[in-house]
Amino acid sequence: MLQYLAILVLLTSALGDQQQGLVLVKSDDDDTNDDKVKVAPNTEQFDEEDLEVFQPSSEWQSIKPGQSIPAGLHVRMNLQTGQKEAKLMEGDDGTKFKNNMDSEKKFITIDKNVISKQRLKEALKDFRDKFHDESANGEHSDQSHGSLTGGKTFRSIDEIRKELEGVDLFLKKDIEEITKHVEILNTSSSSLAEKEHALDELEYYVHQIDNARDLDTIGGLSLVIKFMNSSQESLRTRACYVLGSAVQSNLMVQQSALKQGALPLLLRLLSKHEPMAVRKKAMYALSSLIRLFLVGQKEFLKLNGLEMFVKLFNEANTEPLVIKAITLMTDILTEQIEYVTSLLRKQGQDVSGDISGRVPLLKSMIEKGWCQLIPSLLHTTENDTREKVLQALHVMVTGCKSEFQKAHIQNSLKKLKLEWLKDARGSEASDSSEYAGILAQLVTDLMSKLT
Ligand SMILES: *[C@@H]1O[C@H](CO)[C@@H](O)[C@H](O)[C@H]1NC(C)=O
Ligand SMILES: *[C@@H]1O[C@H](CO)[C@@H](O)[C@H](O)[C@H]1NC(C)=O
Ligand SMILES: *[C@@H]1O[C@H](CO)[C@@H](O)[C@H](O)[C@H]1NC(C)=O
Repeated sequence: MLQYLAILVLLTSALGDQQQGLVLVKSDDDDTNDDKVKVAPNTEQFDEEDLEVFQPSSEWQSIKPGQSIPAGLHVRMNLQTGQKEAKLMEGDDGTKFKNNMDSEKKFITIDKNVISKQRLKEALKDFRDKFHDESANGEHSDQSHGSLTGGKTFRSIDEIRKELEGVDLFLKKDIEEITKHVEILNTSSSSLAEKEHALDELEYYVHQIDNARDLDTIGGLSLVIKFMNSSQESLRTRACYVLGSAVQSNLMVQQSALKQGALPLLLRLLSKHEPMAVRKKAMYALSSLIRLFLVGQKEFLKLNGLEMFVKLFNEANTEPLVIKAITLMTDILTEQIEYVTSLLRKQGQDVSGDISGRVPLLKSMIEKGWCQLIPSLLHTTENDTREKVLQALHVMVTGCKSEFQKAHIQNSLKKLKLEWLKDARGSEASDSSEYAGILAQLVTDLMSKLT
């Protein structure tokens, strides 16, 4: 009996985190066609801070739902329990993973070797697609032979397919599944648990660009948006999650969600009356909705999104949201500044001066007092926040230079620099001294921009 369908060797290219190769058996070929699978622009939305790091060993270990695992492991799925499991590749003593494991270097754990829940889902999805491909042309490639479990048994893809008969995991077409879940959401007699499950399932499917479009086409996206307004917290949370995953790097669906009024709803869900779980997913969805989407960004400004963020800054215990908000602002500023700069360059204009007036977000931020506001966040004791604040200051310099040159800000920067330099030179080399070194460098660079 086939208990385990074994599987995935996740190869990480040394160059980028957007080139996860996925093959059935160990292979050096990066044969993944990434066209249809979205790459996440960054790791911000993965909630990695909530998850414990997976410690690989030579034994199979279960991967907890949502847990990140490093690339380069054998991963398999136990079809009986539905659990994913992972272990080190043969001949791997695991030392290369150790460094990442026992550290608190938060800056560095946002690392190309950490794959997220999303990645794992994409990997599994990709794997399933391969099954479709195989059945389509009826042939088995060389890669379908080989040690699927890392053991000695070899099976052809045909044998596996036979044993999988009755298991519909790979066989149903996505659109049928999506339609089924949408119908459950559209049936008033569905139970809460059924609706929760339907949303969870949709969240899995919509990472693929075509699936997200299909969801919109059949009217499912508008249902999801309706559920963002549900009186049930668990449905609001999940609906935000689905929306965020559906719109991420998917311009057509971003446009549609914006048209259907998702943005004002998301801003409302960020408010302090909402439970933190809802707010976090709303922030994820908001980020996905307006990243790389200038029209959405302008709408965000029009709807006073910046003021909503200021409220977050002034509220206690919102650190995770504040970090995400600042990260989002920094990313969008970078995006807009690059866009404007390249546009001006093309027109042969000078870009060395202050271009802040032509960058919509920066212009609003300056008008609304963010040149004063952001530096004041340096007073937090959280290094994570201070790191994000410094990165924000870096991109804001172009419009806030005279403000940042003021003595009180210079003094805070100097103080931070001294503190971090001291820690960086600490007694022995450690992750925290490395992190302090990175932070000290960040301040130093910023100060050099201000002279
Ligand atoms: C939901 O059900 C109604 C009829 O009850 C139908 O008109 C509508 O198209 C359905 N919506 C979706 C998204 O399936
Ligand atoms: C959300 O629900 C409220 C009532 O609870 C309603 O007034 C509002 O129109 C709804 N908004 C959307 C976008 O459906
Ligand atoms: C922040 O970093 C500094 C310098 O590395 C360190 O002394 C301090 O303990 C860290 N603070 C927190 C809250 O982790």
